[in-house]
Amino acid sequence: MLQKMDEIFDDFQTKLQNLTKQADVLSLKSSVIGKKGSLAEILKSLKDATPEQRKEIGPKSNQIKQDIEKNIMAKLQEIELKEVNAKLAESKLDFSLVDSVKDLGLQAGGLHPVSQIQREIEDIFVSMGFDVLDGPHIEDDFHNFEALNIPDTHPARDMQDTFWFKDMEHLLRTHTSTIQVRGMQSRKPPFKFVGPGKVFRCERTDATHEMCFHQLEGMMVGKDITVGNLIYFMKTLLKEIFKKDMEVRLRPGYFPFVEPGFELDIRWKKPGKGESKHSGWLELLPCGMVHPNVLRAGGIDPEEYNGFAFGLGLDRLVMVKYMIEDIRHLHSGDLRFNKQFKAY
Ligand code: PHE
Repeated sequence: MLQKMDEIFDDFQTKLQNLTKQADVLSLKSSVIGKKGSLAEILKSLKDATPEQRKEIGPKSNQIKQDIEKNIMAKLQEIELKEVNAKLAESKLDFSLVDSVKDLGLQAGGLHPVSQIQREIEDIFVSMGFDVLDGPHIEDDFHNFEALNIPDTHPARDMQDTFWFKDMEHLLRTHTSTIQVRGMQSRKPPFKFVGPGKVFRCERTDATHEMCFHQLEGMMVGKDITVGNLIYFMKTLLKEIFKKDMEVRLRPGYFPFVEPGFELDIRWKKPGKGESKHSGWLELLPCGMVHPNVLRAGGIDPEEYNGFAFGLGLDRLVMVKYMIEDIRHLHSGDLRFNKQFKAY
């Protein structure tokens, strides 16, 4: 039996050498160490072996299995590398530039921390089945206000100071909730999507206010959606971002496009500092159940469907994550600041 096992291994190695496709490698693997593979076949006669023989055969077969696994892994990697190299050779990209950039003493750039966090959050939502939508920066009154249950004379228009164009019909979007409207109009429920992007407010700037900042809108519409669903997705998101379970609380919050509306706060303690004044609740995520008027404006029957929406402030999140005390650093263009966030 021991000899047979050696034969199987030798045979395996010869066959493996000639393979060039990953699928073939995998089928060779299962033909040898699979449930019905040749090794299992041999081990069937183990029952006829003497106890001494068994003592040798057991460890030997484990060793062979391990060696085979190792060889398979190496072969799969080798094939993958070959494929990638072949693709690169075909492509028109000139990789020799990378070296000359170094020779010139130049440094490769990196992503801005807001872009980094935006991508990270998009990935989290994509993994939970959300689409990622985009929308224009220049909007009209309908998408920014009217469809979101903020009619012409509504005082809530004053909540967001707006950059209007001269025609007084177009504006720079004040929030990414405009993407809710476009998203609803372009799909049939059930659906769920996020929409990240820049938003603009005609405000005096200070340590916590910028005229241009970033939000990530989220919307889920379907049948019988509850506040419980909303909390679940928000907690999952926060857990992924902060790499631990976050304690959250919901407070009532007013936004014309949600009813009920909430402010979701996280329990926050500045790392390194003791409890005391640096701990507490931090307002992070306005959200709520989509108002029936908003669903109607998006062409959805509120008798049949409902949903939740949220608007996450990305700059705020970056500030919390990296403990940045002034939002204006983010867009200062100061390389000394930006360089600290190089992803590589
Ligand atoms: N659009 C709101 C704002 O910018 C945030 C929000 C989005 C609130 C979605 C509730 C639901 O202030």
